[in-house]
Amino acid sequence: MATVNSDFRKIAAGYLFPEVARRTAAWQGKNPGVKILRLGIGNTTEALCPSIIEAMHRQVNKLADRATYTGYGDEQGNTDLRKALAGYYRSFGVELADDEFFVSDGAKADAGNIQEIFGRDNVVAVQDPAYPVYVDSNVAGGRTGSFNPEKGCYDGFVYLPSTEENGFIPIPPDGKVDLIYLCSPNNPTGAVATHEQLKAFVDYANACGAVIIFDAAYCEYISDPSLPRSIYEVDGAKRCAIEINSFSKFAGFTGVRLGWTIVPHDLMCENSAPDELHRLWNRRQCTFFNGASNIAQAGGVAVLSPQGLRECRDLIGYYMGNAKIIREGLRGIGLTVHGGVNSPYIWARTPDGMGSWEFFDLLLEKCHVVVTPGSGFGPAGEGYVRVSSYGHREDIEAAMASIIRNLKK
Ligand SMILES: Cc1ncc(COP(=O)(O)O)c(C=O)c1O
Repeated sequence: MATVNSDFRKIAAGYLFPEVARRTAAWQGKNPGVKILRLGIGNTTEALCPSIIEAMHRQVNKLADRATYTGYGDEQGNTDLRKALAGYYRSFGVELADDEFFVSDGAKADAGNIQEIFGRDNVVAVQDPAYPVYVDSNVAGGRTGSFNPEKGCYDGFVYLPSTEENGFIPIPPDGKVDLIYLCSPNNPTGAVATHEQLKAFVDYANACGAVIIFDAAYCEYISDPSLPRSIYEVDGAKRCAIEINSFSKFAGFTGVRLGWTIVPHDLMCENSAPDELHRLWNRRQCTFFNGASNIAQAGGVAVLSPQGLRECRDLIGYYMGNAKIIREGLRGIGLTVHGGVNSPYIWARTPDGMGSWEFFDLLLEKCHVVVTPGSGFGPAGEGYVRVSSYGHREDIEAAMASIIRNLKK
């Protein structure tokens, strides 16, 4: 008789975004015909850039002709894309070998799967609040106890609170942990770690044989040149860090699907042989993954060309224009607002000590605007909402006008 994996049952009921969708649909059901303005899920809305579309069309044409048709590619990604990725990192001073890049169909799957190459008894630390897949994949991987609904935490997990006091970037834990998930620019808080803040984690990890899993999915949103885009800008990071990244927010590939993970040859953990973690990830990908779409990879090479980078950075500038409108609008009604400068997310403190879901419901009810309740990202997110700058400019303007009209005291 088959039995279920009981660790999966521990994943707390109601993944955040389905619950947002459920409440939104219920409200729409009661208020048909009212336009809801969505600043909730971080989903891109603008068309792909012209040079990327052209490159993908060219790849489709190759597939249409048996002389140029190609089937499966390398599980690790096409050579030209891996070379282009190494060139991209070189452009901000990080030297990595082409074969340290593993191309994937997106950062979420990599962020969920990476824990598979680490021992089940590893103690895991996570920034709190955090993108939910870091916690949920380790719950499913059997590294935690049960969810404690009162505390909003899993037993056995180490939460590193990101608060207004620490500028939403925690310091390394006091005790010893084995895996540490960091995300900068951060989803959901919009905070960006400085070089010194990352160095503290790298030094900690190298001192105790821990591994950092660094999610840099929003690195292209950093406009301040003093802020690191990659953890490998910190000396010693290749010995202790894996970096995960994505073309989703960089180039609007949320639906196209393309990302990458860097597992350096130098990476070590407490009991690994030299190069073993790199080889294990390679083994994992070759066993369970058959390579990213060749059309998407042709697009990825185009993103990293000088013309592609120019076009994508213009597109990011558009979303950052939205972020500015949101930040200023929310400040204008007296909210305390963070993020939205080197990041597309605005992290707003709820007014009058309201709970995150309470403010979510108020915004939906009174302003017809959907945001994301901060508590869904972890216990330290309670009392905040995340506002996303992904949207058409006219919708962002309409949402802010509605918030200002209905909530201004
Ligand atoms: C921090 C972070 N990492 C990863 C992802 C997922 O990226 P992808 O679309 O490549 O799976 C997201 C998407 O919102 C994200 O916010």
